[in-house]
Amino acid sequence: MSDWQSTPCVERHKEFLEKLIATLIDCTFESVSRENPVLRWREPGHLEDIINFKLQEEPRKQDTLLEIASKVFKYSVKTGHPYFMNQLFSGLDPYGLAGQWLTDTLNCSIYTYEVAPVLTLMENTVITKLLSMFYNEGNGSTLGDGLFCPGGSFANGTAINLARFWFRKNVQNEKHIPSSNLVLFASEDAHYSTLKWGNVCDVKVVLVKTDKYGRMDVNDLRDDILQEQRKGNYPFCVTATAGTTVLGAFDPLIEIADICQEFNMWLHVDAAWGGGLIFSKRHSVLLRGIQRADSILFNPHKLLAVPQQCSLLLTKHKCIFKEAHSKQVPYLFQKDKFYSTDLDVGNKYLQCGRRPDVLKFWFMWQAKGTSGFEKHVDHLMTLSALFKEEVEKRDSFRLVTDSCFINVCFWFIPPSLRIQNASYDYKKRLNEVAPKLKEKMTKRGSLMINYQPLHGKPNFFRFVIQNSGVKIPDIFYVFDELENLGENLC
Ligand SMILES: Cc1ncc(COP(=O)(O)O)c(C=O)c1O
Repeated sequence: MSDWQSTPCVERHKEFLEKLIATLIDCTFESVSRENPVLRWREPGHLEDIINFKLQEEPRKQDTLLEIASKVFKYSVKTGHPYFMNQLFSGLDPYGLAGQWLTDTLNCSIYTYEVAPVLTLMENTVITKLLSMFYNEGNGSTLGDGLFCPGGSFANGTAINLARFWFRKNVQNEKHIPSSNLVLFASEDAHYSTLKWGNVCDVKVVLVKTDKYGRMDVNDLRDDILQEQRKGNYPFCVTATAGTTVLGAFDPLIEIADICQEFNMWLHVDAAWGGGLIFSKRHSVLLRGIQRADSILFNPHKLLAVPQQCSLLLTKHKCIFKEAHSKQVPYLFQKDKFYSTDLDVGNKYLQCGRRPDVLKFWFMWQAKGTSGFEKHVDHLMTLSALFKEEVEKRDSFRLVTDSCFINVCFWFIPPSLRIQNASYDYKKRLNEVAPKLKEKMTKRGSLMINYQPLHGKPNFFRFVIQNSGVKIPDIFYVFDELENLGENLC
């Protein structure tokens, strides 16, 4: 058996794979150790000297491949490290990782039961359970359907397409209104994928004002809807956010649902970030009203720390995916199969080939139980509350705005600006602090935390966590490290 043949053979590949797996297991523990850096920053030219990225005519030896694998690990960012707080995903859950490995060993694609029997039933189980959690009507009945999507942005786009389909069919009685006269409303703090998908679907997107906490202003929403109607346009959808990307705000879902009902519009809730709160008895109150949504985006790869990617679009309209997406595909979805073709779920999807993102989530759920996810979420909320308290206590830090979720947005105020907060160029100088600190922490490899400007406010840091391996001393480490790095900034 040669290496150009795409199948493993014991004599040639067993030892190689065993060595690789042993390396991966070492990497797993090294990558989360506080003794090691979050990253080893190298300039691109330097990195090209370390790793030969060029593709060549002849194959490389297995030993070389093992060396390459070690270097790939060494110079990549350790997103499972407790000091990686840069994105809305982090952590390296051991059972999630096991689920990923299992997924990759299967190398499956879910469209028909015959190709993915186990995974199809697994998907049905997870979707049914999540529908019951988000849409429980109180009488034990559960409506709807769900899709696994390749990320939250894609799910937001799919929701816009569904909303348009629903609006044309049910509100406009199939009259053809050009998409460009259809109007979607989202807050100015909504995720940018809504704007992108507005372009793709050629629908108009109106950004509604937010209040100082980053929540959609419902009076402004109503005014904007009326204004669009006066222009002869057709408001058809509101995308509300449950956990905005930067401030972590929750739009007032009940009031927005009332408006959608009044104007006969589809309500999509982007709970990519905040949706994981549904697992917490204590904190799910922030999602109040979500059961009124026509569709819900939920990313387990964010708050629940399921490995990338794991994203779902849920809807209360049981048949809408099939109605909006299905096509006749005789080579794949034959009607005369020997088993129930209801199990051939592929036709309700926009994709054809599809990675089974369900497996790692289901596997983690088996390992932790629903109660384990609840403890995870509660721990993250406790640490965030502690982080906020510390920001408020310290002279060198200032809160950007109050928040009720994981996100804590704050400025680090270097000593030179603490006494000059009335200086004419204070805002400009404060704006320069976060990028400078970010460069220092990246080059030192000691911490990764993101910054951004928002609504004319100078650059500020956003603390977020999804890794429940983070402990209370890690929170104090972040403050100490920022103070340490920022001591001499002017
Ligand atoms: C509120 C919100 N919605 C949607 C997304 C997009 O999710 P994904 O990164 O999975 O495409 C994000 C990403 O951060 C987000 O914060």
